[in-house]
Amino acid sequence: MKKKRILILSIVITTIIIICVVFTLNHSNSKYLSIKLNGKEKIELEYGEDYKDQGAKASYKKENLTKKIKIKTNINLKKIGEYYYKYTIKYKNITKSIKRTVIIKDTTKPEIKLNGDERINIYLDNDYNELGASATDNYDGDLTDKIKVEGSVDNKKQGEYIIKYSVADSSNNENTISRTVNVIKKEEKKVEQKSSKSTTSKGFKIEQINGIYYINGILIANKSYSLPSNYNPGGLLSEFQTNFDKMQSDAASEGINLKIISGFRSYNTQKNIYNNYVARDGQELADRYSARAGHSEHQSGLAADINSLDQSWEYTNEGKWLNQNCYKYGFIIRYVKGKESITGYMFEPWHIRYVGNDLANKLYNNGNWITLEEYFGIDSVYN
Ligand code: DAL
Ligand code: ZN
Repeated sequence: MKKKRILILSIVITTIIIICVVFTLNHSNSKYLSIKLNGKEKIELEYGEDYKDQGAKASYKKENLTKKIKIKTNINLKKIGEYYYKYTIKYKNITKSIKRTVIIKDTTKPEIKLNGDERINIYLDNDYNELGASATDNYDGDLTDKIKVEGSVDNKKQGEYIIKYSVADSSNNENTISRTVNVIKKEEKKVEQKSSKSTTSKGFKIEQINGIYYINGILIANKSYSLPSNYNPGGLLSEFQTNFDKMQSDAASEGINLKIISGFRSYNTQKNIYNNYVARDGQELADRYSARAGHSEHQSGLAADINSLDQSWEYTNEGKWLNQNCYKYGFIIRYVKGKESITGYMFEPWHIRYVGNDLANKLYNNGNWITLEEYFGIDSVYN
């Protein structure tokens, strides 16, 4: 009995000794196994930047074990965040690991752009039409909805007003832009000069408000009636846009695809366009199809060109649809076929002008279009 006990005890002791020896041996070998990072332990990247991990190196005494390193990572270059790379080496029953942290940040400001001009002049008592701004961000995409607008315009008081537009992305990078609105007094002299003639040959009332001519309340821009060079609504007016959107979606439901290829054009844009046509075709011909600066309806924000600038477009399904239906939405075909001597311009089946439902209905005339010039009894000639 005693012998048996002694045997068990010695087995236990031997096992303990073996374990201790192996452990010490291993432990002393462990110091020979080395793993080191190539590059820094913590790396900060800007979102969108490329990243190539430099890995790690490992060795045991003089033996190179770099190829045996196992790498684990959760990196996602498409998302802002904190990620890791874990490098592990296993050798002779020894395991060692090291880690690197990679942080992807967005420090890029969103881009913010004004709709319309940076400086706008409005006359006293005229409404300031807020055109807003648009914003995009490298990480968050379209941020237009998040733009904060500060500042207001008192149209009863002459002076300069600053409207501030600011936007921040999800990493709180902020960008700001501003617009100056100048409330100015009417140019009295101009108004007096040009409002001498107060009715048309058909007895419609001609008014000039802020330098813009209205006949029976309808804005007129043609060769005889010009718009002030500083008149710049900055885009299509809402009455145009709203009715166009309606027309476009009704047309689409009938398989008709209408799109605006040229809408609002500023005085200067028109000047460039016209000058280019003059250089190409000479002034006499250019004057038959392109308006001089200040004389284009495109500057009014109430006209646009639809789909094509080719006269044969009138025969397409889209051209026919527009001709037969646009009046229902308050639009007219402005430069009718065979009436160049009246409108001052060649036939443009694509150019529509918003005049409102009442007048559009009358001018449509069951498909036999009457021009604004005929209806009001006015000219369209350069003087
Ligand atoms: N093409 C028209 C007439 C314009 O230039 O406004
Ligand atoms: Zn046009």
